Amino acid sequence: MTTMLSLNDGHQIPQLGFGLWQVPAASTAETTASALRMGYRLVDGAAIYGNEEGQGEGVRQSGLPRDQVFVTTKVWNSEQGFDRALLATEASLKRLGLDHVDLLLIHWPCPAKDLYLDTWRALIRLREDGRALSIGVSNFQEPHLQRIIGETGVTPVVNQVEINPRLQQPTLRAFHDQHGIVTQSWTPLGQGRSFDAAPVRAAALRSGKSPAQVILRWHIQIGASVIPRSTREAGLRENLDIFDFTLNDAEMAAIAALDEGARCGPDPAQFNMA
Ligand SMILES: NC(=O)c1ccc[n+]([C@@H]2O[C@H](COP(=O)([O-])OP(=O)(O)OC[C@H]3O[C@@H](n4cnc5c(N)ncnc54)[C@H](OP(=O)(O)O)[C@@H]3O)[C@@H](O)[C@H]2O)c1
Repeated sequence: MTTMLSLNDGHQIPQLGFGLWQVPAASTAETTASALRMGYRLVDGAAIYGNEEGQGEGVRQSGLPRDQVFVTTKVWNSEQGFDRALLATEASLKRLGLDHVDLLLIHWPCPAKDLYLDTWRALIRLREDGRALSIGVSNFQEPHLQRIIGETGVTPVVNQVEINPRLQQPTLRAFHDQHGIVTQSWTPLGQGRSFDAAPVRAAALRSGKSPAQVILRWHIQIGASVIPRSTREAGLRENLDIFDFTLNDAEMAAIAALDEGARCGPDPAQFNMA
């Protein structure tokens, strides 16, 4: 069972969840319900993943009370702007079959569009209206965060960004810490790029865990929330089983040294895709 992190608005977020990117729409309800039954409490989705219906259905099929499940969705790039973001969120809630989400994120800043500030104002309205209990952002860099905080006085609770051993983003994480923003790691396994790295292999051998478990444990110990994806039941179980061991200081330092600033995904400063 996962630990919880405190958000800057008084709510809490499970530290471990599972992600639904590239989970086929036809199997999303089954994957979601199965993951929730095995102990996950956070399901990370997005309008662009095309599987919000299954995400909501899986929450219902799990049999868990609604307030025991933390549901995230995201406003896609083409829906940025105040009015569009309001409408897009209503459409997401309809597809989910829910009257609110626990966390609503702006998916990417899309700096060239210059609409993320208006979009952030829409998320503030949606929180006031109870359509999202908490609001945050994804793929924001320091200037984008500074601008929305400076203009609105509202600090996102979460910034969901790419973090894995080859892309650790220490400067951005320090900014988050200074402002009470939870770092949430996407593509946390980094496409397997570090499974064979010596510090990961050594920690796996020492602890009797897999390389994936060592990497997910590293996310937990740097204080991040983490949302791995697996379409395999065994993979989901393996990724949940990371709370009965600890990486020691030397292992954490050795994994920290793997950082080379290399992204798997796009650079948020350049990514403006509709
Ligand atoms: N905000 C954003 O812009 C953004 C961008 C990307 C992703 N995300 C979110 O982050 C979530 C996770 O990122 P991701 O899906 O890119 O990558 P990930 O969780 O780092 O990796 C998923 C890949 O790793 C494999 N895998 C999972 N568990 C494993 C294990 N224990 N051992 C070996 N391989 C394992 C999966 O294959 P199997 O299915 O075969 O296990 C899949 O190929 C997404 O689902 C999404 O919710 C957000």
